Amino acid sequence: MTGTPFQAGEEFAVAMDARDPLAHFRERFCLPKTRRGDDCIYLCGHSLGLQPKTASAYLEQEMRDWAQLGVEGHFHGKNPWMPYHRLLTQQTAALVGALPTEVVVMNSLTVNLHLMMASFYRPTKERYKILVERGAFPSDQYAVKSQIQFHGFDPGSSDPGSSLLELTPRDGESCMRDEDVESLIEREGDSIALVLLGGVNYATGQAFDMAGVTEVGRRKGCVVGFDLAHAAGNMPLRLHDWGPDFAVWCSYKYLNGGPGCVAGCFVHERHARAWELPRFAGWWGHDEKTRFQMGPDFHPMAGAEGWQLSNPPILALAPLRASMEVFSEAGLDRLRDKSVSLTGYMEFLLGQHASPKFSIITPREPERRGAQLSIRVPGKGRELCDRLAAGGVIGDWREPDTFRVAAVPLYNSYQDVYRFVQRFSAALP
Ligand SMILES: Cc1ncc(COP(=O)(O)O)c(C=O)c1O
Repeated sequence: MTGTPFQAGEEFAVAMDARDPLAHFRERFCLPKTRRGDDCIYLCGHSLGLQPKTASAYLEQEMRDWAQLGVEGHFHGKNPWMPYHRLLTQQTAALVGALPTEVVVMNSLTVNLHLMMASFYRPTKERYKILVERGAFPSDQYAVKSQIQFHGFDPGSSDPGSSLLELTPRDGESCMRDEDVESLIEREGDSIALVLLGGVNYATGQAFDMAGVTEVGRRKGCVVGFDLAHAAGNMPLRLHDWGPDFAVWCSYKYLNGGPGCVAGCFVHERHARAWELPRFAGWWGHDEKTRFQMGPDFHPMAGAEGWQLSNPPILALAPLRASMEVFSEAGLDRLRDKSVSLTGYMEFLLGQHASPKFSIITPREPERRGAQLSIRVPGKGRELCDRLAAGGVIGDWREPDTFRVAAVPLYNSYQDVYRFVQRFSAALP
């Protein structure tokens, strides 16, 4: 499918949907409806993925066990809650290219980011900087700056001695060039304690060369971490082989786990038994063999599970199980093939309506992006986004001038893309 040359007419979209081997997965999700009861054109999976139809059954099972068993549900339910989070381990590991012991689902993304920095951001007088992309997601910026301050360093990005080093695109460009990222790390690496990039930038949709960044970062002696909020479930990842020290992600975007769903965390195997690392501890990270002896001293479990704090929120994990089942069935490689094709098709159709009123800022090369296209619409773009939403076309707006849309291969069709571009170009101010 990926190699098929695109054509401008709607019959092309219809034909592509007819031969799409993944098309039937759309039926497995609840598509939001317009006021007239038609399916919305939902292109917002980069923000909140759709509900798998089986999610309620997974949730109801745990509600039933809770009602019928009370505390005994920890041991005797259909899926006992004590090891419940492990029902997600294999699929999560496969999703991010990790060993099962390298991943855990826990907390939310920003919490996990702080936990990881508590262990892996260890500034010294010589090596104290954190490298981030300018325009990183605000929560990451706040987390990073607060960690820098916590260690008594200066997070002011414009100060010469600042601990915050920001990657910026070249003048007149919207995205970072991979070679610029790597040469900055080469140049400044001796003073960088932590390289922390989004796998895919939330605003531009640019995917970084995570393997390349990790290689140069580690060679220069830096710790390397990724925020994969916009990458997990969006593109294939090989975290174990690439070798970053840690990664964190949320599960409510491409992973369809539901609003505020439990997040994911990766800690590379080489740290599995790094007992000397400082960490913020909680009882669920304690060695499970002795956890219930209720002793006063913390002995962490090996691997990523040793960073857990609390007993997991079962009711939030249940819908994620439903979603991960669908993912495993569809297979990330097939999803990625369709995703590359859908996004290329959207770009092609937008190109048919080229106008100075908008431009795509996401990189053109498939390996430098996931499903999302970020469309810069100067002037009245926000009104355009609102008008489209009122008519059932759901993307989202990021200040100051960016309309974000993502055709998600699990539930979006070529016809969604075709209709979106028709409506978008007709609605341009
Ligand atoms: C790239 C990125 N990082 C961090 C966050 C914050 O996530 P949370 O609210 O789950 O901590 C988001 C939320 O959308 C995000 O897109």
